Amino acid sequence: MATQIKVLDKYFEPYISHDKIDKAIQKIANELKADLAEKNPLFLVILNGAFMFAGDLFKKLDFPAEISFIKFASYEGTESTGNVRKLIGLDESIEGRTIVLIEDIVDTGISMEKVLEYLEDKNIASLRIATLLFKPKSYKKQFKIDYIGIEIPNDFIIGYGLDYNGQARNLKDIYKIIP
Ligand code: IMP
Ligand code: MG
Repeated sequence: MATQIKVLDKYFEPYISHDKIDKAIQKIANELKADLAEKNPLFLVILNGAFMFAGDLFKKLDFPAEISFIKFASYEGTESTGNVRKLIGLDESIEGRTIVLIEDIVDTGISMEKVLEYLEDKNIASLRIATLLFKPKSYKKQFKIDYIGIEIPNDFIIGYGLDYNGQARNLKDIYKIIP
């Protein structure tokens, strides 16, 4: 059995190698080129988890493209309704642009739906979604995910940008939890 690792209080085992991740990213890069090479797309990266995927994907693109970063911020509303999550980071106009949302993993789809709601009134030309990982059995939404790197079962995973309580984003391979 390959080496297990401990992160905080949990144990994980190797699951997806960096080599396999790299091949999945190259496949997405090829698909993006075929679809969007003439569109000067703007990649909107959903932080924090997608930073590593976005960096490696962007290096593989050999056509004009731009990149910017957005993230969810929790803030205390004035009402006592608890934390509201809002998106921050978009300080430029994206009107008329071809947007590609970059996510590390789509699980239930709830986070991505929030991003889509946020973009609704921005008058963009077209929108695509790219995710390195997808958990089809957990997915509850209807919107189309245009580019998927690797489909996985519902196990909790870490590494390559994905965290467990902030830890393990730096691992270059992906690990899954040992129940
Ligand atoms: P969703 O809103 O349920 O689709 O979840 C999406 C977000 O949850 C991702 O952007 C990740 O930040 C996080 N997430 C979902 N599954 C995992 C996992 O297995 N490991 C680490 N983070 C995850
Ligand atoms: Mg994420």
